[in-house]
Amino acid sequence: MRVVRTVLELREALDYMRMGGHTPVGFVPTMGYLHEGHASLIRKAGEMANTVVMSIFVNPLQFGPNEDFSSYPRDERRDLELAEREGADIVFIPGVEEMYPEPIRTKVSVDSLTTQLCGASRPGHFDGVTTVVSKLFNMVQPDYAFFGLKDAQQVAVLRRMVSDLNINVEIIACPIVREGDGLALSSRNVYLSGEERTQALVLSRSLRETRKAIEEGTVRTVEEARKLLESVISSSPLAVIDYVEILSFPDLETLEGGSLLSDAEGEVIMALAVKFGRTRLIDNNVFIPKEVHALV
Ligand code: PAF
Repeated sequence: MRVVRTVLELREALDYMRMGGHTPVGFVPTMGYLHEGHASLIRKAGEMANTVVMSIFVNPLQFGPNEDFSSYPRDERRDLELAEREGADIVFIPGVEEMYPEPIRTKVSVDSLTTQLCGASRPGHFDGVTTVVSKLFNMVQPDYAFFGLKDAQQVAVLRRMVSDLNINVEIIACPIVREGDGLALSSRNVYLSGEERTQALVLSRSLRETRKAIEEGTVRTVEEARKLLESVISSSPLAVIDYVEILSFPDLETLEGGSLLSDAEGEVIMALAVKFGRTRLIDNNVFIPKEVHALV
């Protein structure tokens, strides 16, 4: 595994792999502090590509002024061990000065998909994501890029960016990886105290219970599903809800509260963002209501 820190070194390492016929190239962009979720992305990349590139860069552009950019957890040595173990070929770890040698004057921004959910709570966040991911795509020029569905809105936004700008990469969305007790893996889970972590289990539980109620037909409308999610989450005294939403996916369009879930065409997302102490966690479930109802 090669570790490179400049764009020039990255391009040289990639040229070497491409000249040796080690294509296609799979790319796993990350902000480090890797966990089993990232490991699953590297493994998937290894199945589909002959060269696996991972980047580790905590991107200042996607953090708001009062967010956790400076305290975001970092552990390069551990990250490199995990990347090597899972089969990455090249790890790109640029510094801020390599990614942004000058204050950036060009931004990539995706309309409308970024105004709701995390886009509403974190203004500017998705512009930071789309800008850095565009830069990384230009540097790596991957055939495939791998993202976890825990950040489902990010997947929707990046798919649209790639399609609107004719970027020649296929976005591969990979399933959410959870702890045995249901907590979705996130680098930010380390911020949770023991009690917060226990209470944070209401997120996955609310999604599970609501999904089950939809499958059993006891919850039929969008509003009923939203209320059930909210009531399960509110059973945790420490939970402070940022949003609980049910939208079409990947268009992220509002579904009328009174409308039947079974009338929704295509996929639907139940998306949650909830704070426990100073830690904001997100979780979601994407499903096709027509298929769920067909099972009942
Ligand atoms: O999902 C992340 O870790 C980040 O948003 C990404 C895609 C690496 C861009 O900084």
